[in-house]
Amino acid sequence: MAEEKAETVKNKQVLLRDYLNGFPKESDMIISTCNIIRLKIPENSNGILLRNLYLSCDPTMHGLMRKPESPRRTSIPPCKPGSVSGVDFIAGMPGLTAYVGFYEVSNPKKGERVYVSAASGAVGQLVGQYAKSMGCYVVGSAGSKEKVDLLKNKFGFDDAFNYKEEHDLDAALKRYFPDGIDIYFENVGGRMLDAVLLNMRKHGRIAVCGMISQYNLEQPESVSNIAWHLYKRVRMEGFTVFEYLHLHSRFLDFVLPDIRKQKITYVEDIVEGLENGPAALIGLFNGRNVGKQLVAVAHE
Ligand SMILES: NC(=O)c1ccc[n+]([C@@H]2O[C@H](COP(=O)([O-])OP(=O)(O)OC[C@H]3O[C@@H](n4cnc5c(N)ncnc54)[C@H](OP(=O)(O)O)[C@@H]3O)[C@@H](O)[C@H]2O)c1
Repeated sequence: MAEEKAETVKNKQVLLRDYLNGFPKESDMIISTCNIIRLKIPENSNGILLRNLYLSCDPTMHGLMRKPESPRRTSIPPCKPGSVSGVDFIAGMPGLTAYVGFYEVSNPKKGERVYVSAASGAVGQLVGQYAKSMGCYVVGSAGSKEKVDLLKNKFGFDDAFNYKEEHDLDAALKRYFPDGIDIYFENVGGRMLDAVLLNMRKHGRIAVCGMISQYNLEQPESVSNIAWHLYKRVRMEGFTVFEYLHLHSRFLDFVLPDIRKQKITYVEDIVEGLENGPAALIGLFNGRNVGKQLVAVAHE
């Protein structure tokens, strides 16, 4: 009997109360402990038992928690209210995103001037390091002094600034890029994109990875400086990592040696316990996280 008891656990879940409408709130999610799960594989089964240690929080989840008829397009099926929201995607997803966005979409060349927004986030911190490793000049922006210090002192960006302290983003970009920007790695959208367009160099490239400033708005902000695509012959291309999964093994061959040699570094922000998952997810949209947001749900 005691042995049977040891083979069961309570199933703690984060449930979506209803489809999201606007900025996500903790009250949109419920922590529920129900269902007893038997930790035993049925005899003669080929199944395996996995212990999940960490869950990943990603801005993309917000899109999956909205009504499916929303105009946002995704290759991942949306969640239904009442389903578990803490879906962990693919190991290394931010790394692969940075890799394909920078190397495949941006077509970088040594010595080019690269600007990365939301640069201390999971994707941005890697883009900056990839760009530095191929001899580019790299500037990042982030939303706090702590993050700006990380960009300059840990990730090796040539320079960085706190966009929240810049009243005039155009002037700020001209300060860091007096000769203009060759590559903009776009993570935020909105007024940042508008300012960047005024500062692109001829034949510059914009890799549109994300537009986190727009995800929660009922009315997306308009971008006024579209004509600068023409004036500077700029190529702007959106991409999703899910269309590049075939490059994952090539990406691992590229990145694993650098990780082993500690030529590439990474900052994670780990909160403890599934019950803190909703706050961690919401924190992505107000910049609470410093680096890749994870939720530790168990210990080895
Ligand atoms: N295309 C793809 O396949 C793909 C894959 C993964 C991620 N993405 C996108 O890439 C972007 C970065 O994702 P991530 O995982 O690196 O991010 P992350 O680590 O989750 O961090 C998100 C960061 O965005 C910044 N942010 C939040 N709201 C903002 C706003 N209104 N204006 C400016 N910055 C804001 C915050 O940092 P600050 O303190 O700097 O504000 C926050 O820490 C997101 O837009 C995401 O949707 C796309």
